[in-house]
Amino acid sequence: MPGLTIGDTIPNLELETTHGKIRIHDYVDGGYCIIFSHPADFTPVCTTELGMMAKYAPEFEKRGVKLLGLSCDDVESHKEWIKDVEAYTPGSRVTYPIAADPKREVIKQLNMVDPDEKDSGGNQLPSRALHIVGPDKKVKLSFLYPASTGRNMDEVLRVVESLQRAAKHNVATPVNWKPGEKVVVPPSVSTEEAKKKFPQGVEIKELPSKKEYLRFTSVDA
Ligand code: BEZ
Repeated sequence: MPGLTIGDTIPNLELETTHGKIRIHDYVDGGYCIIFSHPADFTPVCTTELGMMAKYAPEFEKRGVKLLGLSCDDVESHKEWIKDVEAYTPGSRVTYPIAADPKREVIKQLNMVDPDEKDSGGNQLPSRALHIVGPDKKVKLSFLYPASTGRNMDEVLRVVESLQRAAKHNVATPVNWKPGEKVVVPPSVSTEEAKKKFPQGVEIKELPSKKEYLRFTSVDA
């Protein structure tokens, strides 16, 4: 069976977390939610990631996005680890829950298993997986990084902004887009419709093919 991917409904699992038991659908609760996994507690890259996510938490909150971490170790281990995380990243407070998965059931269901990483007992470990779940509880975007590559939280924030613009205005964001820059009109919207929908203007790029498909406009957040 293929693993959880874009368009799938996130399974409504009950998780043991540092904030007590959480049911994923209740936690998402009609907003956006970022569920992100880490190979293991007390490991270097994970410690830097968790602290940076904690620093960015207010930015996600402003955009209506909840955070939910996950690492296979147990909740007691997570609580001890958080002390290191906060000490390493000054100004960070880990206010989001971190789920435990000692039996490796959750990481399988959420397509977060790293086939190349095992703990000292030979148990499977999670990759650096990250799913952004939308208000409809469907996966809107996923990252899958190996243990050796820490994620870039600016990129996580940037893709949240892109997803939210796309959902609100039916637009798409071009390469290296940043908030404040022009967005593009998707192929499903005709130029006639686009001109009505975006009275602020639609700029059509002239291309050798003479096909008018690269159309820019501006939208607010
Ligand atoms: C880390 O977080 O640094 C890490 C975890 C597992 C394997 C490799 C690196």
